[in-house]
Amino acid sequence: MEEVVSIEKATKKFKDKTAVDELSCSIQRGEVVAILGPNGAGKSTTILMMLGLLEPTEGKVEIFRMDPKEKAVREKIGAMLQEVSVIDTLTVKEIIQLFRSYYATPMDFEELVALTGLKKEEMKKRADKLSGGQKRRLGFALALAGDPDLLFFDEPTVGMDITARKRFWDTVKALKEKGKTIIFTTHYLQEADDVAERILLFHKGKVVADGTPHAIKNRLTKQSVSFIENSEVPLDEIRSLAIVSDVYVKNNRVIVVTEQTDDVLAYLFEKRLGVKGIEIEKGRLDEAFEQLTKNKEAI
Ligand SMILES: Nc1ncnc2c1ncn2[C@@H]1O[C@H](COP(=O)(O)OP(=O)(O)O)[C@@H](O)[C@H]1O
Ligand SMILES: [Mg+2]
Repeated sequence: MEEVVSIEKATKKFKDKTAVDELSCSIQRGEVVAILGPNGAGKSTTILMMLGLLEPTEGKVEIFRMDPKEKAVREKIGAMLQEVSVIDTLTVKEIIQLFRSYYATPMDFEELVALTGLKKEEMKKRADKLSGGQKRRLGFALALAGDPDLLFFDEPTVGMDITARKRFWDTVKALKEKGKTIIFTTHYLQEADDVAERILLFHKGKVVADGTPHAIKNRLTKQSVSFIENSEVPLDEIRSLAIVSDVYVKNNRVIVVTEQTDDVLAYLFEKRLGVKGIEIEKGRLDEAFEQLTKNKEAI
């Protein structure tokens, strides 16, 4: 394994506001990592520190085992940030060519255009005449211009319509196939779940969960078996089972919270409790996300 990003107890303070709080993480070559979290969690600040555009107040951030400001690092990374500022008086094509000229081995121009979905007529447009979605595509093209090994996207799909969004993620998946390391932020859980193989969940400047979408989901989502309330069912006995984490009654239904729904069902049938209207609820990742970011003790 080759460590591409190493962050050790990095803290970033803006006056007395702590945006990133003793954050540590390590990212290996070829990983696709989603930094997920609500607004203000410190996602962008962390990206800016990895890009060397912000200095940590304390702690250490290294990219390819070097200071992010090193030229050797800059040549191997590309970024699409939340705020795109480009030279407004140039056309899209001119800006792309300019960016390509900064790199020793830029991406082939035609390939770049094909990957980012920029259209012929858009290439002739001046940057200040672009729509929000077109600006995003240009930003994407500029991130890829140097054919970098490591890519950062900060909330890349904001302002994109559904088609553009799908195209963007398809391209990201193709880049992943080429072995690129990709780090992106989002507050859309679905995007993290669909595209990333690892999620770093941020909350108040800290990583509160780190794992595959599947692992995070399994660890955090609650599942339940529910049935119509019935005076013959011994709620206390069910509550005392090791596989059951909670039992409560809601809208005339008994809800049995558990991680092992099959075992709870087996118990109910074995005891011949004659329960009716059985429903199984599988935990949802968006609920887990809400739970996590509301309540840190949940982890
Ligand atoms: N330049 C800045 N000056 C002061 N406070 C900032 C600055 N940048 C970010 N912050 C604050 O730091 C916190 C984290 O911000 P940010 O990293 O942008 O979060 P996210 O990208 O997760 O929404 C927020 O409370 C934000 O207001
Ligand atoms: Mg942000």
